[in-house]
Amino acid sequence: KATQRLDYAPPAYWIDSVELTFDLDPAKTRVLNRMRLRRNPGVAPQPLRLDGEELNLARVMVNGAGSSFKMEGDKLVLENLPEGNDPFELEIFTTCAPAKNTQLSGLYVSGDTFFTQCEAEGFRRITYFLDRPDVMASYQVLLRADKAQYPVLLSNGNLVESGELDGGRHFARWADPHRKPSYLFALVAGKLVAREQQIVSRAGKPHLLQVWVRPGDLGKTEHAMNSLMAAIAWDEARFGLSLDLERFMIVATSDFNMGAMENKGLNIFNTKYVLASEATATDVDFANIESVVGHEYFHNWTGNRVTCRDWFQLSLKEGLTVFRDQEFSQDMAGSPSARAVKRIEDVRVLRTAQFPEDAGPMAHPVRPDSYVEINNFYTVTIYEKGAEVVRMQHNLVGREGFARGMKLYFERHDGHAVTCDDFVQAMADANPASPLALHLEQFKRWYSQAGTPHVKAVGQYDADARRYTLTLSQSCAATPGQPEKHPFVIPVALGLLGTDGRALPLQLEGEAAAGGTERTVVLTEPSMTLAFVNVDSPPVPSLLRGFSAPVILDCEYGDAELLALLTHDGDAFNRWEAGQRLMLRIAINAIADEAVTTDAAGQIHQNILPAALAQAMRDVLRHPQLDAAFKELVLTLPSESYIAEQLGVVDPQRIHAVREALRQQLAVALQADWAWAWEEHHAGGAHRPDAVSSGRRALAGLALSMLCLAARQSGDAVWPGKTYQRFKDAGNMTDRFNALSALVMSGHELAAPALARFHAMFKDDALVLDKWFALQAGSTDRGGNVLPAVKALMKHPDFHIKNPNRARSVIFSYCSANPGAFHRQDAAGYVFWADRVLELDALNPQVAARLARALDRWNRLAEPYRTAAREAIARVAAKPDLSNDVREVVTRALAD
Ligand code: ARG
Ligand code: ZN
Repeated sequence: KATQRLDYAPPAYWIDSVELTFDLDPAKTRVLNRMRLRRNPGVAPQPLRLDGEELNLARVMVNGAGSSFKMEGDKLVLENLPEGNDPFELEIFTTCAPAKNTQLSGLYVSGDTFFTQCEAEGFRRITYFLDRPDVMASYQVLLRADKAQYPVLLSNGNLVESGELDGGRHFARWADPHRKPSYLFALVAGKLVAREQQIVSRAGKPHLLQVWVRPGDLGKTEHAMNSLMAAIAWDEARFGLSLDLERFMIVATSDFNMGAMENKGLNIFNTKYVLASEATATDVDFANIESVVGHEYFHNWTGNRVTCRDWFQLSLKEGLTVFRDQEFSQDMAGSPSARAVKRIEDVRVLRTAQFPEDAGPMAHPVRPDSYVEINNFYTVTIYEKGAEVVRMQHNLVGREGFARGMKLYFERHDGHAVTCDDFVQAMADANPASPLALHLEQFKRWYSQAGTPHVKAVGQYDADARRYTLTLSQSCAATPGQPEKHPFVIPVALGLLGTDGRALPLQLEGEAAAGGTERTVVLTEPSMTLAFVNVDSPPVPSLLRGFSAPVILDCEYGDAELLALLTHDGDAFNRWEAGQRLMLRIAINAIADEAVTTDAAGQIHQNILPAALAQAMRDVLRHPQLDAAFKELVLTLPSESYIAEQLGVVDPQRIHAVREALRQQLAVALQADWAWAWEEHHAGGAHRPDAVSSGRRALAGLALSMLCLAARQSGDAVWPGKTYQRFKDAGNMTDRFNALSALVMSGHELAAPALARFHAMFKDDALVLDKWFALQAGSTDRGGNVLPAVKALMKHPDFHIKNPNRARSVIFSYCSANPGAFHRQDAAGYVFWADRVLELDALNPQVAARLARALDRWNRLAEPYRTAAREAIARVAAKPDLSNDVREVVTRALAD
């Protein structure tokens, strides 16, 4: 059943143009599809096999006459097509049932409005087609519908005609000036309103920008529009890439499987990534909107103008576009420190989500070799690791070199469907003297080999010779189907810190003079040794600066060295990393230490936070120069899942207990400092979502949560009282939600009235209700009370399992984001998980398969969790007629 990358063959036919006519009706939509096709002369003559799924076929005509056809499974097969290479007309008439489409793939209805989602293989649920990205056609679309119900009719490209029809109906005709693969097709029809903006591009061309939402939501579209304008300007300025359409539309829907979709000229978004007001959206929401709006817009070039030959090449567009949106957000953030904060956040996502994926049963290369269901491969590996692979290229050829590479890439491939190899080749060819070009074939292993490489660093100082040698060696564990790994090309940005913390000038043996305090060495062999000369005292190496490669750095730092890096490193990323390493070390030691015991409620009372570490954290918190946003990152402990990844055997309860104890002790030890930080950072004037003011709010929010934790221990009522007051008076959602979550996460009795009040305030705002649900399902588990609460939440009148955002807010927040509550001795969490996977699979396989991945790492769990988790997975796997999506995930999990 699996599709193999090496089985790729060009299509036997090309589709030059498509004319689609839709008579939109939720129960039965009629689709007339008139295509102009021709045989691909490069491929042996064969029948035409068209993809289709859940379609009712009414008629097939070839060149205006009825034609014979047969079905092979889901495929429509035409054997008696005209011979020769002349174009011919194929007309197919089908119907489908959008109202019954709970999968949200293809044409579906959300809140009385029609939407489509065609990537990766949803177009075949709309009409029969060669539903593959290397078949690019010109589209003309005629939409017809009841005018009162569906006043707005949208599709890709330009509106060429619209008007009235009999019986209260109307029509709109759209033409897309650009050829595109079917996965970029889109239509929207319903009662929507738009925020509009006219802009003139650098090239002097006018464009109309629209953000379409439900009528009540217009007031929440300003930030999305601003983000879109900023993205357009950024792509012109940084890459010389301009908007190639007269009209660019974004439409928001509250029922969406993923984040958003880059359909040509008609992006469709999850409301979560469009709607924002200071009263309803947090700073994180604002930042996510900017990033996702940018991401989808940047796809217009990296994805749409140059697309993927086949779905194995998905990272060609996704890795590159994530890299571009990360760069966009950094450039928008402005200051070097704000850029570093964004980099740290991105790396944190990579390490907490992608590293586990790369070490588990679903591990796959950035360019996979096989899949059962492509929707399972929209992963953090394809996206985030893919972006790191592009970032390494950027760093190996330099900023200017990268711009040259992009230019060459578009010169060669504009309008075509290409491969990951084509991208790297363009980068290398545009930079023939670069280390990328020098090691091109080896560099490509980043695309073909799964798994996270380890880089081990061992330093040795020779005082007599004033020489410091640093040996870097790489290795990579086996992953499913790849027992043996070959060495990667690993750029390691590094510097050396002297005893006083100052950056040392770097001089390698054989070099005439020292050159700079930072450089990037490229590790290509299993091992390499660098010898630095004229080093006066034992230095502290600062390695992998800026996280210059997606690897795990193993370096036996002493505590004093890490403290030196935390205090002095000129590289903000490594400064943060040193703090994380210090805390991680304490956590791991405590986890292993049998003398550290838990009480009946699973709590640790011994002190495990060393005074020196508390002092180091205090110094960061009180630092006069560091930004608030950076402090908040340093003072946030590594997540439970990141800690888990460092361990051979994972006892989630133990990890949870230790991390909670550390948090509690950090709260108490720094109580006066947290109070200071709160006083210093909580005042805010008008809400602006910029990096500086959102950093201040983040630090104030952390301070409040710590003060509530400290109060939990002392029984003091002052800070919880202040927090409740803050919750009530907050002028924006960031402050309000931080206060609410401080109460909930410290288990304070004021949490209940605050939650009730919050619900009453926001009962009509779906996105805010999602937060309300998620906070409760993700809350700390005092006495095993979260699972019963989750079950009660699923009975709440506002809970709707068919709505992916709501399902995620309750079920995923519990199963994937709350390990301390999910992994129960009695296995009830796993039973709940299996039931929900099966329940969701009958409605929406894509969402079900995501949930199925919550137990990816079952094989590392300690007993009794491991056996219970395996049983739960096996129960899911035993269910007949599972979707391909869930079957692939659980089959791979059981093979681990
Ligand atoms: N291309 C979209 C994006 O990255 C993701 C859409 C994926 N959807 C899906 N059902 N697989 O922005
Ligand atoms: Zn994307």
